[in-house]
Amino acid sequence: MPAIPADAVRPSLTIQPLTLEDVPTMCEIEELAFAQSPVAALMYPNGRGASTPDSMAYRFRKVLNDPSKAYAHPLKVVRTDTGDMVTFGVWIRPLTAEERQDVKNKAAAGPDPEAPVDDAMDKEFMSAFRREMAASHERTMGHRPHWYLELLVTHPRHQGIGAGGAIIRWGFDKAREDKVTAYLESSAAGFKLYEHMGFKTIGEVRVWDGKAVLPCMEWTPEGL
Ligand SMILES: CC(C)(COP(=O)(O)OP(=O)(O)OC[C@H]1O[C@@H](n2cnc3c(N)ncnc32)[C@H](O)[C@@H]1OP(=O)(O)O)[C@@H](O)C(=O)NCCC(=O)NCCS
Repeated sequence: MPAIPADAVRPSLTIQPLTLEDVPTMCEIEELAFAQSPVAALMYPNGRGASTPDSMAYRFRKVLNDPSKAYAHPLKVVRTDTGDMVTFGVWIRPLTAEERQDVKNKAAAGPDPEAPVDDAMDKEFMSAFRREMAASHERTMGHRPHWYLELLVTHPRHQGIGAGGAIIRWGFDKAREDKVTAYLESSAAGFKLYEHMGFKTIGEVRVWDGKAVLPCMEWTPEGL
């Protein structure tokens, strides 16, 4: 992240629901923001391919469109001065027992057969990654209800202006209202920020004997 002077004036930001028209911008931001990510290097050992954008767009459209994912809150942060989308994220509200079972069943069923195949992706790594993420989530949070930050990405040009923090605080308000905690698996790039926001490490996701390690983190509202 570029160094931002502590006294720099931050632009005014607004949070809005993501829509299907945002999908191309989401793909662009995701590709730029994860360009240096060690996990992305394992997912794409030879870099992204020609089929990667289609596969990513399908995944994002599914989050926005799939009625069985009504528990997902896909959000974007827009700069009010330029109208640019600078960040997007997905919070998942606390699931009912039925929804948790549905998520588990879908995970056990493997990759979505209708999704376009991403030829550049290491399928073995990806399936181990998905499996370990789900197992760590279950191990650390079990049946405790919580808000789950599934995704958070800020355009590299707009990092450090408080946009990611705005999405995080949106989820904190929901967790406070529901008197539950908030949970996420952290990337290397996000870890310091999440600690700064008050998340504590409660476990880890280990994939391929530690080739990829992601801390599992939880935030507890004041007084809970
Ligand atoms: C992680 C990421 C989403 C952060 O988004 P961002 O919009 O730049 O974050 P913000 O500017 O809102 O920072 C949020 C808060 O964390 C603080 N912060 C940011 N980086 C920090 C660091 N390295 N150490 C301590 N605090 C930090 C900011 O000061 C801010 O706090 P404040 O609002 O109290 O001042 C962004 O860097 C990114 O997209 N990275 C690549 C993709 C990724 O790894 N996503 C996370 C997946 S789990």
